[in-house]
Amino acid sequence: MNRNMSVQLPKSKAELYNQLAAQLGSLLAGERDLIANAANFSSLIFHSLPDLNWAGFYFAQDGELVLGPFQGKPACVRIRVGQGVCGTAAAKCATTIVPNVHEFPGHIACDSASNSEIVVPLIKNDEFIGVLDLDSPSPARFDQEDAAGLEELVRILLASTIRNDN
Ligand code: SME
Repeated sequence: MNRNMSVQLPKSKAELYNQLAAQLGSLLAGERDLIANAANFSSLIFHSLPDLNWAGFYFAQDGELVLGPFQGKPACVRIRVGQGVCGTAAAKCATTIVPNVHEFPGHIACDSASNSEIVVPLIKNDEFIGVLDLDSPSPARFDQEDAAGLEELVRILLASTIRNDN
C-alpha cells in the first residue's frame, strides 16, 4: 500500500465528543454572546454528529421554552414546562433520553422523521436557562455516552457565555 495513504478509522463516541469539545472551545473563544455561540454550537454538532435530523436550543422565558438557534426543519416555537420531551427535561432539570418518541406521552412532533430524542438542560449558576434538544431518525440513537458528551459540550457553552437579557 502507498505509505502516504492513510485509512480513516471510525471514531468511538468518546473520541468524537473529545474532538468536538476541543473544536467547540476554539469556535467559541473570544465571544460571550449566548445566541451567537448557541447558533455556532448547533451548527457544529448538527454537521459533526452522525444521524441527526434536528439540533438546537429552547430558552426559558416567562415559564415556557422559546425556540432558539437550531439546525433542521422549522420547529414549534413555544413549549410549556412539563410538556413534551423538552418540557419534561426542563421540569426535571435532568438529561432525558427517549429511545422511541412515539411511545413518549405528550411528545411534540416537529419533524415526522424523528424517532428518538435527547434533551439536556442548560443550568448556569444554579439557574435553569433552557435546553439543548437533538432528534434522530434512528430509533434508540442516543445513550449515556451521548448524554455525558453533550453535557460536557453544554458546560463549555455556558462557561463561554453571558445571558443576553442579563
Ligand atoms: N420533540 C420535542 C419538541 C421539539 S422538536 O423535537 C425540535 C418535544 O417533544 O419537546
